[in-house]
Amino acid sequence: MADRLKQLVSHISRKEMSAELWQEVPLAPPDSIFQLTAAYKADTFKDKVNLGVGAYRDDDNKPWVLPVVKKATSILLNDETLDHEYLPILGLPEYTSAAAKLILGSDSPTLKAGNAVSAQTISGTGANHLGALFLSKFYHWNGAPKVYLSNPTWANHHAIFRNVGIEPVDYAYYDPKTIGLDFDGFISALQNAPDRSVFLLHACAHNPTGVDPTQEQWKAIAEVIGAKKHYTFFDCAYQGFASGDLDKDAWAVRYFVEQGLPLLVCQSFAKNAGLYGERVGALHVVSPNTETANRVKSQLSVLQRSEISNPPSHGARIVSLILNDAGLFEEWKRDIRTMAERIIDMRHKLHRLLTEELHTPGNWDHILKQIGMFSFTGISPSQSKALVEKGHIYLTGNGRISMAGLNSHNIEYFGRQLDAVVRGTLTSSSS
Ligand SMILES: Cc1ncc(COP(=O)(O)O)c(C=O)c1O
Repeated sequence: MADRLKQLVSHISRKEMSAELWQEVPLAPPDSIFQLTAAYKADTFKDKVNLGVGAYRDDDNKPWVLPVVKKATSILLNDETLDHEYLPILGLPEYTSAAAKLILGSDSPTLKAGNAVSAQTISGTGANHLGALFLSKFYHWNGAPKVYLSNPTWANHHAIFRNVGIEPVDYAYYDPKTIGLDFDGFISALQNAPDRSVFLLHACAHNPTGVDPTQEQWKAIAEVIGAKKHYTFFDCAYQGFASGDLDKDAWAVRYFVEQGLPLLVCQSFAKNAGLYGERVGALHVVSPNTETANRVKSQLSVLQRSEISNPPSHGARIVSLILNDAGLFEEWKRDIRTMAERIIDMRHKLHRLLTEELHTPGNWDHILKQIGMFSFTGISPSQSKALVEKGHIYLTGNGRISMAGLNSHNIEYFGRQLDAVVRGTLTSSSS
């Protein structure tokens, strides 16, 4: 009887305590990209191909430590003056100022006037988060906070804004009929949004589509943004990686600044310096004058302090060395070209294979027109699934492939499997 009573009491108190026992926490779905990578790793097929992951691979499908990064790392290792003290809250000053010049231009009047505020962040993701958090606190919203995101966009954008209470709204961007930009849809979304809306724009190498506006189209976009007094939230995760030229890939951001449009820029050195795991990024907020910039800076410091206290030093020191030394900077530009050119070369090889050799049904010119790490192939979710299940080719369900996952050893296999899936003749490959 006493035991029964004890059991009952423990059952009741467990029920009351259920929140603390996390029994009502639902199981979250796994991240689709990381799930894809796990499935790829578990596959024993010898010719398997991983086109899911957004990281550069060399022609032997290996991660590439940039030679300039190796050099900078060895300089740091031998620098007796370095220690492991905390960095300032907004980061390593020589890193943030050089990073601002890289994106805004070394002769930027805005920078010279001291109107831009820069904070070192936990890579591009952290820059997006800090930028979103800053807007959530200080932007003068028309009603409920909303951010306009391209449809489609980098999957993390939605969660980053939702986490700080800003609701994402899609704007037209990709046209599946042309496998290109839905320019008219984009312009009407800008025109139809209430004045002073916040629009997130990918500065270059749009993820996941690889579809960027032309310079003429950027000018038209900027004009509507100016007329509607919208705020631009630029996300720049691929500077240099898209065209192989750092200045060319910063063109849209610099043009918007020149036009006097209010904006901020999120910057990442994950891809262009191959520093994925080092988490080196920055947020740059362009203000109309120095006095405003100082106030913005003070609030970014407060937000950063409560989120991460101080950013990490190692990756920022590597990038700072590279950006502030003319010789290392030139070497970095060569390394960037090596990566960008290999990807562009893969685009040409894949296009040639599909058009001249295999005569795959359909038009494949978008493979050449798209830019950066990713290509939207235009194949359907069921065709993508068939490539994974029958062809051992791992890609996301939307038909996006990472061009960096293609190389001289696997491109032929990939091209033939893609051709077969388009023709509806794909059969299971086994080794
Ligand atoms: C559009 C876009 N923004 C931001 C990021 C952030 O990357 P990271 O946090 O690794 O710098 C990525 C990475 O894939 C991206 O594609």
